[in-house]
Amino acid sequence: MNGNVRPETMARINSPALANAFIKEQVTELKEQIGDKKVLLALSGGVDSSVVAALLIKAIGKNLVCVHVNHGLLRKGEPEQVIEVFRNQMDANLVYVDAVDRFLDKLAGVFDPETKRKIIGKEFIEVFAEEAKKLDGIEFLAQGTIYPDILESDGIKAHHNVGGLPKDLQFELVEPVKLLYKDEVREVGKALGLPDNMVYRQPFPGPGLGVRCTGAITRDRLEAVRESDAILREEFANAGLEGKVWQYFTTVPDYRSTGIKDGKRLWAWPVIIRAVNSVDATSATIEEIPYALLGKITNRILNEVEGVNRVLYDLSPKPIATIEWE
Ligand code: XMP
Repeated sequence: MNGNVRPETMARINSPALANAFIKEQVTELKEQIGDKKVLLALSGGVDSSVVAALLIKAIGKNLVCVHVNHGLLRKGEPEQVIEVFRNQMDANLVYVDAVDRFLDKLAGVFDPETKRKIIGKEFIEVFAEEAKKLDGIEFLAQGTIYPDILESDGIKAHHNVGGLPKDLQFELVEPVKLLYKDEVREVGKALGLPDNMVYRQPFPGPGLGVRCTGAITRDRLEAVRESDAILREEFANAGLEGKVWQYFTTVPDYRSTGIKDGKRLWAWPVIIRAVNSVDATSATIEEIPYALLGKITNRILNEVEGVNRVLYDLSPKPIATIEWE
């Protein structure tokens, strides 16, 4: 697919039949473009890069090399799912990089949100470039660029996510979904057989849980973010809210308050729940969550998450509050 402008005649992919037709056409084009050369892809497990991976696996099989960098800021179960789906089920050529210590060591003691983002972005590029240098014969770099990224080059991804590959690692780009809208990418993902929770994943910031563990990240508070987020997602799914609420997550700020447990003072963190509805992330409204559900989630978090003694629900719309806490 050449050019960065979506032809007016291009039908909206909104059915399995249209998704299958797109896949067939893309697989032919990708085979033509790539031949027997090798392609590299940073596979985060998000819907865009996962769909690109699945398309390329169909087109060129093991000549696609997927690199999954675990920076320690992913949600519970995400690295495991990438390995299960791509390595075990799709037999992909997947390089899994455990870079958890490397990222968390670099981030230790760093309070400023933009500095944290820069460190995460820069470190990611470095880890990815190091892996790329170990591989022979890579000629293409695949990317999960989608149409809104092209239309809004000053949009969220471009605004927040810094960096590109160093000059000695510039490859020809392969961007098979660059003319698709998000709903079309999901339709194609479904037709490619990706699991629902990957296809319908809510937006997740590039710096991951790093921006939800506000201030300087510590391993124990990061675990509190990860565990409380997993409980929230599980309870939203049980209540049938998955895919209905646009984005929901927890944040654990870096201050404590008093509580009491087993007759002793408990100086611990609060968990803040955020659940918003939005169309394009530029503004957001607050989802009305049934009180009983909030109560259930609160009890689970207080009982199951280490180092926490309060649960709060954030009622602030965007603007004036941003969706994330930093
Ligand atoms: P804010 O907090 O600015 O977030 O209202 C708007 C949307 O963008 C996501 N977000 C990010 N996405 N890198 C990203 O790729 C980032 O650094 C980043 N920060 C926020 C946020 O989750 C929401 O969907």
